[in-house]
Amino acid sequence: MAVRGNSIIKGIEISEIINLLNKAYADEWLAYYQYFIEAKIIKGIMKDAVIAELTLHAADELRHATLIADRIIQLGGSPLLSPQEWLKHTNCGYAEPKNFDVVAILQDSIKGEQCAISTYSTLADIVKDKDIITYNMVSQILADEVEHEEDLQALHDDIAEFVLDLKKSIG
Ligand SMILES: [Fe+2]
Ligand SMILES: [Fe+2]
Repeated sequence: MAVRGNSIIKGIEISEIINLLNKAYADEWLAYYQYFIEAKIIKGIMKDAVIAELTLHAADELRHATLIADRIIQLGGSPLLSPQEWLKHTNCGYAEPKNFDVVAILQDSIKGEQCAISTYSTLADIVKDKDIITYNMVSQILADEVEHEEDLQALHDDIAEFVLDLKKSIG
């Protein structure tokens, strides 16, 4: 554990930061798997564009998990050691895909990103002015999640519009 590095944390217990980070760590692994499996099972119109986006997001969530695991270790904690722990500690849960259609998959994913945005926004408020390193990391991740929501929403709206136009032109 980085003694001097951790001595700059003030006004919050390090164990509390570790607990909060482990909950986010669980979210990231579940989000990674959700994107991974969605990209495999998705069906329907314009699915290739959606698969490309889902695959990019999966890589980002795995990168977030890596950042968080490294920070937990730096703080002297241990990242959750078993996948069974992910479902116990997650903030956002896991939305098992039930409907494999592109629009349903995008809607599930948008909900997930909205939960991630709320989670990281709360986490940023908690560590602000107390743990600058965690705050900076959380801010970067939060910016990614905001971008993720926007990318998915834009795809969703494009596809919805395309389908509407198609229906009109077919009559
Ligand atoms: Fe993430
Ligand atoms: Fe995300």
